[in-house]
Amino acid sequence: GSLEEAVYPLFYGWFLTHKSQSHTKETGKKLLETLGELDEFKEHWGDFGGAASETRINLEEYFDGKGILHCTTKFSDYGKATGAQEYAELEAVKEFFSSAFHLQISGLFITPRTAGARVRLSDKQLEVWPADSEKEATLSEELPRGSRAHITLGCAKDVEAVQTGLDLLEFIRMEKEGDQDWAVKDTDQGKLRYFGKGMWMLELSEEVTVKTIFGGFYP
Ligand code: A2P
Repeated sequence: GSLEEAVYPLFYGWFLTHKSQSHTKETGKKLLETLGELDEFKEHWGDFGGAASETRINLEEYFDGKGILHCTTKFSDYGKATGAQEYAELEAVKEFFSSAFHLQISGLFITPRTAGARVRLSDKQLEVWPADSEKEATLSEELPRGSRAHITLGCAKDVEAVQTGLDLLEFIRMEKEGDQDWAVKDTDQGKLRYFGKGMWMLELSEEVTVKTIFGGFYP
């Protein structure tokens, strides 16, 4: 109504329930363990700045996860970000605010900068996905809407969380080019691909469903 003043959050997104957060972290940890044991990973350990003499790789220490796990839809910066006000006024954003959603995690990825979960959005979920999210990040390239959807699991020291979505788009670009001779490894979680430059993507053989609430974060 006219008496209400809009209050813009830092960002909008789907926030995982407590149980789904634990489950997702466990899935991520399993991948880190698998990688830590993998000879191919050890060969490329230099990508992560690891000394060649190190025998044990502790990626859990490398990535430092904090805060509640979530999939950002719009970084609104308290209303200061481009398109923040238009986003707040979207019918779908108003309608779905505080509603429960199931998100599908289709993969997990690790780079020297970030660790994240790749999220496959449904048509309904795409209604609250900003139209320009992918464009904003890639400028020239046309990637399907929702390509950037992810959950940040951790960032290396001095890396900002925004990097996780950019890393995911880099994977998708490389997948699209498709002409590389990627190393593929079957694991009990699914197919693990190495794209070079320390970039590892696990395609889960069984997607993980997480329970979330769509809303805003106002720290
Ligand atoms: P992500 O969604 O990849 O996790 P911060 O803690 O840096 O203020 O960020 C808060 C949240 O908003 C994080 O989840 C972060 O990344 C996301 N975020 C930060 N900056 C941007 C941006 N410029 N564009 C999109 N998402 C952002």
